[in-house]
Amino acid sequence: MLQVPIREQSGQSSTKAVILVGGPSRGTRFRPLSLDVPKPLFEVAGHPIIHHCLKAIAKVPDVREVILVGYYDESVFRDFLKDSSKEFPQFRMQYLREYTALGTAGGLYHFRDAILKGKPERLLVLNADVCCSFPLTEMLTLFEEKDAEAVILGTRVSNDAASNFGCIVSDSHTKRVLHYVEKPESHISNLINCGVYLFATECIFPAIRSAIKRRTTRPRLLSYPSSDNLESSFVAAAGDDDDTEKSEVLRLEQDILSDLADSNRFFVHETKDFWRQIKSAGSAVPANALYLQKAFQAQSEELTPPSATIVPPVFIHPTATVDPTAKLGPNVSIGPRAVIGAGARVKDSIVLEDVEIRHDACVMHSIIGWNGRVGAWARVEGTPIPIGSHSTSIVKQGVKVQSITILGKECGVGDEVRVQNCVCLPYKELKRDVANEVIM
Ligand code: GDD
Repeated sequence: MLQVPIREQSGQSSTKAVILVGGPSRGTRFRPLSLDVPKPLFEVAGHPIIHHCLKAIAKVPDVREVILVGYYDESVFRDFLKDSSKEFPQFRMQYLREYTALGTAGGLYHFRDAILKGKPERLLVLNADVCCSFPLTEMLTLFEEKDAEAVILGTRVSNDAASNFGCIVSDSHTKRVLHYVEKPESHISNLINCGVYLFATECIFPAIRSAIKRRTTRPRLLSYPSSDNLESSFVAAAGDDDDTEKSEVLRLEQDILSDLADSNRFFVHETKDFWRQIKSAGSAVPANALYLQKAFQAQSEELTPPSATIVPPVFIHPTATVDPTAKLGPNVSIGPRAVIGAGARVKDSIVLEDVEIRHDACVMHSIIGWNGRVGAWARVEGTPIPIGSHSTSIVKQGVKVQSITILGKECGVGDEVRVQNCVCLPYKELKRDVANEVIM
């Protein structure tokens, strides 16, 4: 059992938040964009992905500290944290760096002293790579109502998609989690883990400790069906002499959640609102659309007002220049200092910093990377992703391709050139029509 007393002391926060940001060896599916910016800092709907998490956490009244846990270099989040601490003065924010990928629970345990400082009663844990409305207050209400040890956010997906996620079997009446299986091989439920949790601190750390003990006694029996492979970090950690260090690589999903389901105090809050993973680079486009639509519903002043040439929702950075005859939207974000020429058409796309889109060009279902140039009358397009789809790849002429066209940093598209369903690595010049290709 945990040694520290858990009672809240006056003036101290009773909920702390951790955002799991991963590290550079993860997020490989986010290439080519992650070649130039760490995925958590990639901007969707005008803000870095993790800014959307912070905004949601800011609505939970008793959170006074947010900790980013990952294994990126310390310098990566320095400016972001500086800017965010001005925008969210109610939090103390810090980044804690794992010496290697410790897994989704390994980092929590490694930094338990920092996390438990101030004796928080509850711990919010958010995967950085999800996009949703983060109904954290509703999760807290359920947590209190049920006197829970843990609450997980769940959503329904199609039966076909479910096995790509953690699957939850629950009692629909009591909302109790009866069974949890990470990425099961056969169908057990279409209620899936959204990667957002609320834990009682007095339960989660002992649960991790027990998992570590089990790991120490039978280390080779555990496997990690994750999107990216953790095996290398396990081997690295296993080389250490210290027992605790040996077993530090731990997955919340496989090693902890399945066991929590055996307790009677693990509950699921099912969201009916939007939810998507941000894994492939293309998945930034639906995330951008969903966050913009949410901002539009909330009548956010950040968005450009609708007009004959602005089909909402559209975000245009104040330093961008858009010709009044260009037509933008819906679901478009235009980054700092971008220039959009006369008669251009941009729809369902992200246009990053310093991009130039020349007159009469058309950009749809695409991401145009930093400093990119799209020539006059050129056409850069992807294929619309069906609403509710959790995949950004499609099959064209028997070949699996990305449905979103992505131009990496400083790519140029010549005048009148057509680029369709392509992923283009940085610094390429496209002078002829291309379709369904990865351009290296
Ligand atoms: N700090 C840290 N250290 N973060 C990590 C590590 C690590 O070693 N490994 C992964 N993460 C972070 C990632 O950056 C991401 O935000 C989150 O943890 C989950 O990443 P994955 O381990 O790749 O899992 P997944 O995305 O395949 O599946 C998880 O998320 C799904 C929802 O998006 C699981 O929780 C699934 O059950 C869930 O459905």
